[in-house]
Amino acid sequence: MKALVLTAKKHLEIKDYDQPTVKPNEVLVHTAWAGICGTDKALYNGLPGSANAVPPIVLGHENSGVVAAVGSAVQDFKVGDRVSVDPNIYCHKCFYCRTSRPELCEHLDAVGVTRDGGFEEFFTAPEEVVYHIPDNVSLKAAAVIEPISCAAHAVDLLELHPYQTALVIGDGFEGQLIAQILKARGVKEVTLAGTSDEKLANNQKHFGFKTINNLKTPKAIKADTYDIVVEAVGLPQTQEQAVEAASRGGQVLMFGVGNPDSTFKVNTYKVYQKQLKIQGTFINPYTFEDSIALLQSGDVDPLPLISNILDFAHVEDFVSGKLKGVSKAIVKVAGEEA
Ligand SMILES: NC(=O)c1ccc[n+]([C@@H]2O[C@H](COP(=O)([O-])OP(=O)(O)OC[C@H]3O[C@@H](n4cnc5c(N)ncnc54)[C@H](O)[C@@H]3O)[C@@H](O)[C@H]2O)c1
Ligand SMILES: [Zn+2]
Ligand SMILES: [Zn+2]
Repeated sequence: MKALVLTAKKHLEIKDYDQPTVKPNEVLVHTAWAGICGTDKALYNGLPGSANAVPPIVLGHENSGVVAAVGSAVQDFKVGDRVSVDPNIYCHKCFYCRTSRPELCEHLDAVGVTRDGGFEEFFTAPEEVVYHIPDNVSLKAAAVIEPISCAAHAVDLLELHPYQTALVIGDGFEGQLIAQILKARGVKEVTLAGTSDEKLANNQKHFGFKTINNLKTPKAIKADTYDIVVEAVGLPQTQEQAVEAASRGGQVLMFGVGNPDSTFKVNTYKVYQKQLKIQGTFINPYTFEDSIALLQSGDVDPLPLISNILDFAHVEDFVSGKLKGVSKAIVKVAGEEA
């Protein structure tokens, strides 16, 4: 079978691999689609994602496919089932796992990061992280359940009320998904601030969001205005802007991943005076079922956001940053189209 292997930092090679065999607790997935994101860029460049990727490794933590074999101890899956795999495998033993915060697990194992993932025709995963896909959800949409699940976890950390207004800074795939989930969770009004007129217009058209082009009209983000502010870029200037934009009693969610050495300035008097909550968010603890439900109901629709379909040979264009203007790229691997 074909596998796209990260053989060394900044080196991707298409190789012929033997099809993996399953352990008793594992499912073999015939990969249909694999999403690709900024985490893959980091791993390609030798930086950590949720964990370190040590070459040779097959990336692909966002994926969908069809079950091709099951191990002897697998109970809830059979050959032919349509599935998506949550990449994050928790140890269930450490302090964080045992205090119901598995996302903070000290021994996180991750499909497509620490073990081979979806950029190969067949990959394996333990049954505990495999999820069934409902009939009305396509495998193409199912490939992005993982990024939806990170957005869903982030929104879970907010205290939401119908009277609230929300601002999402960042018109990347995640910012666009967070905006959809906030709307689905019933906040009064959602504004999306980004840098791409095309993406912003697309969001206005499909989802009715108010939009701000943050480079052309940065002053359009008013200070002390939004009950909920989500920063989904990861730069100090947008992080500062996020804290500024929060109203009294506001909640600021720092979703964007900053450079490990970067810091941002915050007016501590304003944190006191506005009684702000500033919250970080990390990955997707058990938010796959909610994400599947959001897809099934149509409350989240990722398909209008998918801009690029790649094959293995063009993945490097994306991770090396050569491909510009991407809203979301997914890789057609093999298996069914549906
Ligand atoms: N917390 C988590 O669990 C988690 C999970 C996935 C991704 N992330 C992080 O979230 C961030 C967004 O992810 P993504 O997949 O959407 O990435 P992305 O690269 O697709 O999106 C970033 C977006 O920010 C926009 N942007 C840049 N400067 C801006 C500015 N000044 N104002 C407004 N928008 C600006 C860019 O145009 C781009 O659309 C990244 O930092 C990523 O690492 C966090
Ligand atoms: Zn991802
Ligand atoms: Zn653990």
